[in-house]
Amino acid sequence: MDRKEKLSAEKVIVIDFGGQYNQLVARRVRECNVYCEIYSYKTDIEQIKTMNPKGIILTGGPNSCYEEKAPTYQKELFALGIPVLGLCYGAQLMMHVLGGKVEKAPVREYGKTQVHVDLSSPLFADVAETTTCWMSHFDYISQVAAGFRITAHTADCPVAAAECAEKRLYAIQFHPEVLHTVEGTKMLYNFVRGVCGCTGAWRMDSFVEESVKQIREKVGSGKVLLALSGGVDSSVAAGLLSRAIGKQLTCVFVDHGLLRKDEGNEVEAVFGPNGDFDLNFIRVNAQERYYAKLAGVTEPETKRKIIGEEFIRVFEEEAKKIGAVDFLAQGTIYPDVVESGLGGESAVIKSHHNVGGLPDYVDFKEIIEPLRDLFKDEVRKAGLELGIPEKLVYRQPFPGPGLGIRIIGEVTAKKVRIVQEADAIYREEIAKAGLDRTIGQYFAALTNMRSVGVMGDERTYDYAVALRAVNTVDFMTAESAEVPWEVLQVVMSRIINEVRGVNRVFYDLTSKPPGTIEFE
Ligand code: XMP
Repeated sequence: MDRKEKLSAEKVIVIDFGGQYNQLVARRVRECNVYCEIYSYKTDIEQIKTMNPKGIILTGGPNSCYEEKAPTYQKELFALGIPVLGLCYGAQLMMHVLGGKVEKAPVREYGKTQVHVDLSSPLFADVAETTTCWMSHFDYISQVAAGFRITAHTADCPVAAAECAEKRLYAIQFHPEVLHTVEGTKMLYNFVRGVCGCTGAWRMDSFVEESVKQIREKVGSGKVLLALSGGVDSSVAAGLLSRAIGKQLTCVFVDHGLLRKDEGNEVEAVFGPNGDFDLNFIRVNAQERYYAKLAGVTEPETKRKIIGEEFIRVFEEEAKKIGAVDFLAQGTIYPDVVESGLGGESAVIKSHHNVGGLPDYVDFKEIIEPLRDLFKDEVRKAGLELGIPEKLVYRQPFPGPGLGIRIIGEVTAKKVRIVQEADAIYREEIAKAGLDRTIGQYFAALTNMRSVGVMGDERTYDYAVALRAVNTVDFMTAESAEVPWEVLQVVMSRIINEVRGVNRVFYDLTSKPPGTIEFE
């Protein structure tokens, strides 16, 4: 068996029943260096058998397994001789299908809960006898199926875990995949590396290798078109596609004149003709066109709309020049999929700016999304693996409308220059202070306020720049970050001295809510 075959042989399959944490399960498995793929509960058992997984994990889900139309799986799954771990809904379903009893719980458990575990279970090797776990269920297992023994309980839940060691079937009522379950990673490790016997040979380079193989198979000799924004996701997608299919890939990079300082040239240096990647690179310098469209426009949503629509027009024109392509590639990553409610069985949380707006004017047959299963930090790891420079890989989130929504009021070339310069200084000083990877997102914005100041002996009447830095877990809420005073002072003084047209610098303390991260 060569290395590649060995890696694929060590696959664990996650069967998705619609829970919110399903990708997290896959991610934790990958953190144990075991390759993992997610399939819907509708996947045919024959397909699962062909994949010959080392283990199967059944996820949580929002339903009650005893209801008529609830997602289920046939009993045969538990008789394949493959270890199965059921989590939450998956645990209840396992019991239900195998003859145990699941009912509405007299006490609904939600949140951090003390769980008492039986240390003789292989799942709980090296786990504390009483351990904090994350519970979220309204049904409970009131009776385990024949052949199972109870291996964990809580004050309110008699079956927090159960197992049939002989058949290597395991059920856990709580969620080991979320970090609130303090020893959850250990439990999943115990399952995939212990019970399933995976050796843990999978690394990010294996993801790259596997993806390259899959892309080649899918694309064949077809042509692929990608809109490259210079952000992390589309850059990593470009790197991956380039490795797989070289010049069959064309990347269109639209410089809308609202990028950060030097960003256009940086993107071109990496992906352009003198860069390290084998692909066709088209840069469209559309700055003037954008400024003309934005002249006199002050309303934020109108600005967003103009920038978005103009992007579509420019991209469309380029696509027309290229002609029909077989695939349109997108740098969609997993959180985009979940937030937009496109992720298999999960409920919709919010619709996202980057997904859902497919350019239906481009002539293509199919979409290809090579990063669809990855979290942001995994995308970054893949990027480094592909040889994309760190500077680009660790780039912080940057909105599609760019500096257009960081300039309050009308956008002009002059204002763009001011905010670019101020932002570059801010980023430089944050990096110098070693804070660039600790703060979630930080940038300079240009307020529309002009105020009187004095410089030398002269009266000035110039703009005020606002500095923003926030820490956030999910970008839905955020706290303003504590940037050290000394750093802020250096930034302030450099901006005033080096950026013409600015005579005041503010630091924005607002959290989200009530503010948003961006200014518009
Ligand atoms: P807000 O301002 O909504 O920002 O608190 C949350 C996150 O989303 C980014 N953002 C955008 N990204 N198009 C994008 O691609 C947009 O129109 C947009 N608006 C905000 C923002 O930078 C932050 O990371």
